[in-house]
Amino acid sequence: MNPKNPFLIKGYISPQLFCDREKEVKDLYNSVQNGIDTTLVSPRRMGKTGLIFRFFDFLSKQKDIQTIYVDIYSARSLNDFIKLLAEAILLKFSIRTSIGKQFLELIKGFRPLITYDAISGEPQIQIAYHSTQEKEYTLQGLLQFLDKQSPLIVLAIDEFQQITDFPEKNMEALLRTYIQPLKNVRFIFCGSRKAMMMNLFSNAKRPFFSSTRYLFLDKIDASVYAAFIKNLFKKNGIKTEPDAIDFILSWTKCHTFFTQSLCNMVYSMENELVTIDVVKKACIELLKRNESVFFQYRQLLTTAQWNFLIAVAKEGEVKQLTAKDFINRYGIGTPADARRISKSLLEKELLLDTNTKTETVYQVYDVFLSRWLEREY
Ligand SMILES: Nc1ncnc2c1ncn2[C@@H]1O[C@H](COP(=O)(O)OP(=O)(O)OP(=O)(O)O)[C@@H](O)[C@H]1O
Ligand SMILES: [Mg+2]
Repeated sequence: MNPKNPFLIKGYISPQLFCDREKEVKDLYNSVQNGIDTTLVSPRRMGKTGLIFRFFDFLSKQKDIQTIYVDIYSARSLNDFIKLLAEAILLKFSIRTSIGKQFLELIKGFRPLITYDAISGEPQIQIAYHSTQEKEYTLQGLLQFLDKQSPLIVLAIDEFQQITDFPEKNMEALLRTYIQPLKNVRFIFCGSRKAMMMNLFSNAKRPFFSSTRYLFLDKIDASVYAAFIKNLFKKNGIKTEPDAIDFILSWTKCHTFFTQSLCNMVYSMENELVTIDVVKKACIELLKRNESVFFQYRQLLTTAQWNFLIAVAKEGEVKQLTAKDFINRYGIGTPADARRISKSLLEKELLLDTNTKTETVYQVYDVFLSRWLEREY
């Protein structure tokens, strides 16, 4: 069902409701055509998953390519990983097709219990293993099955960093061993924990070292986003004042999810003309709706951590978290205090560090929290 509101805050529907990412789609396609796997990285909610579906939509016109998407966010072990992969393959290939039939035959060999979710109708597979080898053999079997197909397979594994939390310590080596010989499968490894993803793929001591091409997903260009927003309102009979759109993009710092959310809110307020005042009302409403989450953050943090977040929010961006100037202005303590507090806030994903060639810039990870702290304190 298509929602009436054209500004999506989850999922992917069509290119018309998706802004830009033309270059990224081209880059992904180029890699697929040249036999290169991709590591797709960005801060949370910048649009990685959306891009994968946009790319798959682009590929859907090609008969000789099939796409499979697996989200392993919920996986806690190799067992779960195999289960999710098998379910994704089963979901992709209808058992009425020849590939689907072959796949069903293959997994029957693993003596699975297959059920179908009562609500979504999606297949659920349970396999009981007698040994670790059997498990590894199953994983290899699934990947080899994909490799044998005549259409090229593009397999996107979302939240890939999850494998570093599995109890199986050889997960990376195992996957690498099975993935390396594949000729017919192109991988997209996707994740938001940049340090962890870079460590997986750029650490010379680890199995995936140098095996993929990076795609770092950045913010959408502001002028492109502005045109997209104006156009979506216009298509739905709503006029927009240019400075209202500029205000949207600056208030959300042009971050995809927050921009989509604000536009969604503005749209839902059913004005015929979007002015700055309308946008400001939407901002306040959004902050109000998120307040209970912000209170929760406060409960989970120490006073020093909370005050640190307020300081960063007030600054908007901070380049040197231990600089005297910054520390003194907000009564943070010593540079060592600042270092310790910022480290824990970065680990909790409450602070975001963005690296450019020359410097690192810090900001509050959640743009709405940042705007709320700025206003409230
Ligand atoms: N190019 C785009 N145009 C319009 N909306 C987009 C675009 N990219 C993403 N979105 C929307 O922004 C929101 C966040 O995107 P998405 O879930 O793809 O981010 P993500 O990087 O995968 O986040 P996470 O790291 O939390 O998984 C979604 O609601 C999605 O619909
Ligand atoms: Mg995602």
